[in-house]
Amino acid sequence: MRSLNLFLVSLLMLPYASGAGDWCYDFISPNCGPGTWSGKHPQCAGRSQSPIDIITKKATPDPKLTDITFKGYLDPDTSLNWALFNDGHSVQLILNGSITISGGMLPGTYKADHLHFHWGTATSPGSEHTIDGTQYPMEMHIVHLNQNYRSKEEALKHPDGLAVVAFMFTESDSDAKDFNFIQYLKHVKNYHDKYTIKPFSLENMIPNDLSKNRVYYRYQGSLTTPTCNQAVIWTVYKEPIPLSKDQLNEFPKTLHYNDTSRIVSNFRPIQNLNGRTVYVFNSGSLLFRFNLLMCVIGIRALLLFN
Ligand SMILES: *[C@@H]1O[C@H](CO)[C@@H](O)[C@H](O)[C@H]1NC(C)=O
Ligand SMILES: *[C@@H]1O[C@H](CO)[C@@H](O)[C@H](O)[C@H]1NC(C)=O
Ligand SMILES: [Zn+2]
Repeated sequence: MRSLNLFLVSLLMLPYASGAGDWCYDFISPNCGPGTWSGKHPQCAGRSQSPIDIITKKATPDPKLTDITFKGYLDPDTSLNWALFNDGHSVQLILNGSITISGGMLPGTYKADHLHFHWGTATSPGSEHTIDGTQYPMEMHIVHLNQNYRSKEEALKHPDGLAVVAFMFTESDSDAKDFNFIQYLKHVKNYHDKYTIKPFSLENMIPNDLSKNRVYYRYQGSLTTPTCNQAVIWTVYKEPIPLSKDQLNEFPKTLHYNDTSRIVSNFRPIQNLNGRTVYVFNSGSLLFRFNLLMCVIGIRALLLFN
């Protein structure tokens, strides 16, 4: 009887429960969509929320920023397994093994946890961050945890707990031959589906040379889903990854939330900057080199005159 009651209760809670948690995107219902999140998750109403619109002209060059060092992305440990997972909001690839990022003024080494995507519909874009007001067709988030913290739960309590690397996607005329991730989507069509895959080089998913000398934007923000913890150091690469329209459409076409409903437009609207600074790393730019030079001259001068 007790288990029957539990069963009935879970049926009644279906609109929320089947969306993995007590929140959703508007495609399921505006009653649990982003506009309502802060009711149950107060952090979603914080002042350092993500995503944001990145206004490139207002981004502050920071000469202390450097390229990010990606480790284990090209040669992941193939004796382990990775898991692909439909969580009802997106598709997640759980990254197993020693895959890390460091450098780029990150305060420590961050271990890759998983990556996931935000997309639109067959006809509308779905990135979370926008750049100069432009929303891209899709956005990938590679979520890393600060190794100084014991657990994900602990990391989520600190402003430097997570480092998320974001890549935009753009529509190109031809298929990207090596973006082999898409072939796996059919194995996790439905909510809760899980599929084990052998680790593969993530080089294929990221613009060549693992983002060396590429422009990125840096700011302090939050998870873009409840519980919206303001625990994320964001790195948003400017250069988008090109995929064909068909490849991009595989996401909203294949991935389902329930038998009849596809996962579409799973992005949070942009949030207020509230006075935060967005920094830009652009090793190639003249202004950036000039700033670096002035910084070096400044330090020399300080040393000389002290
Ligand atoms: C699937 O989800 C949609 C959106 O919440 C809902 O309208 C529909 O009734 C659901 N279908 C099933 C079979 O549960
Ligand atoms: C990592 O790989 C090992 C070895 O295959 C496996 O036992 C473990 O469950 C994997 N962990 C995750 C989080 O997928
Ligand atoms: Zn995300």
